[in-house]
Amino acid sequence: MKMVDLKIDGREVKFPSGTTVLEAAEELGIDIPRLCHDPELTQYGGCRLCVVEIKGMRNLAASCVTAVSPGMEVLTGSAPVIEARKSILELLMANHPNDCLTCEKMGDCRLADYCYLYGVKKGSMEGESHNYVLEDQNPFIVRDLNKCILCGKCIRACSEITGKDVLDFSYRGFDTKVTAFGDSPLLESDCIFCGNCIAVCPTGALMEKQIKNKARQWDIKKVKTTCPFCGTGCNFDLCVKNGEVISVASNPTSVVNGRALCIKGRFGWDYIYHPKRIRTPLIKKNGEFVPASWDEALDLVSTRFKEISANNGADSFAALSSARCTNEENYLFQKFVRVVMGTNNIDHCART
Ligand code: FES
Repeated sequence: MKMVDLKIDGREVKFPSGTTVLEAAEELGIDIPRLCHDPELTQYGGCRLCVVEIKGMRNLAASCVTAVSPGMEVLTGSAPVIEARKSILELLMANHPNDCLTCEKMGDCRLADYCYLYGVKKGSMEGESHNYVLEDQNPFIVRDLNKCILCGKCIRACSEITGKDVLDFSYRGFDTKVTAFGDSPLLESDCIFCGNCIAVCPTGALMEKQIKNKARQWDIKKVKTTCPFCGTGCNFDLCVKNGEVISVASNPTSVVNGRALCIKGRFGWDYIYHPKRIRTPLIKKNGEFVPASWDEALDLVSTRFKEISANNGADSFAALSSARCTNEENYLFQKFVRVVMGTNNIDHCART
């Protein structure tokens, strides 16, 4: 692999050719702000917040789309860089609602984080602003285009993660906005409501409907778990407040699915609290199912299994496992069948 020698903030460093300046800086522990860049999506270079100074270059360069080159001298925090980033944030805030107090994204908003970091307030640059109507006619996603900064991440996520291409930029200039075909509501588009656009949105432009007014981001405890809906085994975080699940969020460290989820995984968790959900074991007595304790149910199962095995031999027992269980559960199940029940009569619904 060809290595490139360069200087970043005065440090002499070497990186493989093709590495971007942003990636190189990240490796060195230098945090460059970014709004449109996402390592899982194609490079875009639209927001320009990641600009750096490169000696010999007339303009500041967007570090997320600039590759390292031999002899390059990069300054990531010089006065012109800081000034440019402040101006970009001021321009974004000139056309952004000042409603952080009631915004669901408060506490997890990249724009707010950077405004705080660079001391940018609303009002330092006045101008025309949008007044789009909130789109919430569907059961899952609330779109507030007044908060959209046109980073294009939702468009790329829809195309590159979900493979649907439902969203794109429409109109021109100040009127540019992200829309589905014909500027129609999501409900009338080809949107499959996977919510992968929500997972990448850096502001409150795309939010989950289910979580609305339920919790501030800092009240939420995230618990990583495995989706039970199919055999893919996607991982995600359950968002828990006061011991109650209030939503599901993508977990970028998930090796199976990254941040990608489907409609069931992201929005189908509310069965947990469905009033008809069976919450205790049921034992049939006199032809009727009656609630029982776990001890009572497990005692009954173990007694009956022992009887079957003793009366008819271990091979009279067979077990079928499910792709909806985790690998660990399936491993334990086959271990139970082989070691405790003493038979190899074990199969799995996904084997055929
Ligand atoms: Fe580099 Fe947006 S993060 S241009």
